[in-house]
Amino acid sequence: MVKQRFNWSLNLLMLPLATWVTVTGIIAELFDINDFVLHKYPGYVLAVALGVHFLLKLKPWLQGTRRLFSFPFRHAAMLQQSKTQTLPTSEGITRRNILVWLGSAVGGFIAGNFLAPTRFTSLPTDEDIGVVYHHWSKPGNVSLLSSAINWGTQPAIFKDYPESKKIALAKLVPRDGMSVEQAIGTRRSVREYAQRPLTQDEVNRLMYYTNGITDTRWGSGLRASPSSGALYPVEMYLFVHAVEGVPQGIYHYNVRDHALEQMQAGDFRKPIADAALGQEFFGEAGIVVALTGIFQRARFKYQDRTYRYVMLEAGHLGQNIYLMAMNLGLGACAVGAFWDDDVNRLLGVDGKQEAVLYLLTVGHKIT
Ligand SMILES: Cc1cc2nc3c(=O)[nH]c(=O)nc-3n(C[C@H](O)[C@H](O)[C@H](O)COP(=O)(O)O)c2cc1C
Repeated sequence: MVKQRFNWSLNLLMLPLATWVTVTGIIAELFDINDFVLHKYPGYVLAVALGVHFLLKLKPWLQGTRRLFSFPFRHAAMLQQSKTQTLPTSEGITRRNILVWLGSAVGGFIAGNFLAPTRFTSLPTDEDIGVVYHHWSKPGNVSLLSSAINWGTQPAIFKDYPESKKIALAKLVPRDGMSVEQAIGTRRSVREYAQRPLTQDEVNRLMYYTNGITDTRWGSGLRASPSSGALYPVEMYLFVHAVEGVPQGIYHYNVRDHALEQMQAGDFRKPIADAALGQEFFGEAGIVVALTGIFQRARFKYQDRTYRYVMLEAGHLGQNIYLMAMNLGLGACAVGAFWDDDVNRLLGVDGKQEAVLYLLTVGHKIT
């Protein structure tokens, strides 16, 4: 009697507990929480409760199992027998229960794989962190559903330095010039530069046709480079070494105002060349463009896929810089090898919320 009451109380506990563990499990999956205490510890309690419940019900389970395996030979006889005498109950293992368990297990397996297929596939042995990330960020249906839930809030789409000295850039209209085919067909990375300053117009065109607002009809404007969801997580900075009418220093390209904002004045040829692992052409180019990513601009919407998108978009901007440099008769070189922390420090960004992604040098070719 005491045993029965205890088991009954256990059942009463397990029902809400199982619901809790299921709900918190879904939350953990939605938000990719690997160590979710609200799920983990109730889960342990549930496992212990299930174990105790199983032990308490061991006898009827065993009886039920015996009956099950004697089916169908003894089933008819037992049915007959049950009409005349009370047979031990077999709450545990009956054909119906087994079908329910099997159905739940198969259903759970299919649902789990359908909802988050990527989480269950093993990774290759020659993986690196990029492979792990790439694999992890493949969409499952749970992550598609959860994209309806914002990961934090959307930050401002434009960055500016209100206290800075500004250099307004002239409004541009497209000119005739080198065809896209010619630009692509003749593009090469250039690492040797003539000691001739760039003009402000050249810098203007490089900025505008890389990341300027080219269409004002929609929202806060559409830009020269494509951006997933038009969220524009990539920012542009300039290390100005030699540009007519623009003092040396570090500048931010203010997209909304189409202006350069001086963040620091001074000669940064050596610091940026050092930060680029000592690649000397960094000190010889007219400008060095630094592309950074403000991840939250895309993360609130794209979650795990954000990093992919931000890198892809930096690539779009990088190619635009190459092609515009060709169009202007200049040379450019994209660079991925640099000391991230040093470049971030020069740019005054924290390397987490906003981090440098890509550097490009631009200057006059040596003819
Ligand atoms: C992501 C990326 C990173 C690069 N990093 C460097 C670099 O650190 N130093 C360098 O001199 N060139 C770098 N380059 C330029 C490549 O060396 C160059 O594109 C390649 O040699 C092909 O030559 P091409 O650009 O003239 O076609 C990089 C290019 C890319 C796309």
